[in-house]
Amino acid sequence: MEKIIITIDGWSSCGKSTLAKQLAKELHFVYIDSGAMYRAITLYFLRHHVDWEDVNAVDAALKDIKLEFATNHKNGQTEMWLNGENVEYVIRDLVIAEKVSEVAAVKDVRTFAVARQQEMGKHKGIVMDGRDIGTTVFPNAELKIFMTADEDVRVRRRFKELYEKNPNVTLEEVKANLAHRDYIDSHREVSPLRQAEDAIVLDNSHLTMKEQLEIAKKWARERM
Ligand code: DC
Repeated sequence: MEKIIITIDGWSSCGKSTLAKQLAKELHFVYIDSGAMYRAITLYFLRHHVDWEDVNAVDAALKDIKLEFATNHKNGQTEMWLNGENVEYVIRDLVIAEKVSEVAAVKDVRTFAVARQQEMGKHKGIVMDGRDIGTTVFPNAELKIFMTADEDVRVRRRFKELYEKNPNVTLEEVKANLAHRDYIDSHREVSPLRQAEDAIVLDNSHLTMKEQLEIAKKWARERM
């Protein structure tokens, strides 16, 4: 079967990465979490006190950032590495989530990340999730999925995920963060989150993971 590019865009906490990972596994494709790249850049900026409103500071910092994905052979998952350090777990913290949308709205940050994402898709056979993958990164992708789910479903899902790591987190905090990120992600000037004209909508508010995977698999096979 032909190798294709599958893009999965959508609002925060719709389950994009869950679907993308499972789909990649089923099709023997590579899964790439583009959000992890923006999170890793945010981590670097916070650690090094980089003012992301200062273009020169951003450009200088980006020169020192090396992002790589590597497979963790213990669990088979692809993990994010920043300058030789595995940051897959630290980048999931709410401290990063609170700033990542601001950093991801910076033009030069996006140019930097998009160039790397396009490079990773050169040989096709990838599933990449994010916000602008079907619109900006791979406008010619063979399959574009736009995921959505009811807001309360998304808040509960993200809360559960964060609560397992940090029982001090509150539902209100998570709700506010999601609303804040969705607003910035869909209103920024450069590549805002929007549905590509040729994307198929997948609303998973009332679907199990198995059901959504079956739907996506069918769409992918039709295009391979
Ligand atoms: O998917 P995520 O929650 O890990 O993404 C983190 C942030 O990065 C999200 O708030 C928006 C931004 N992002 C983006 O602007 N473009 C992408 N392709 C992926 C993520």
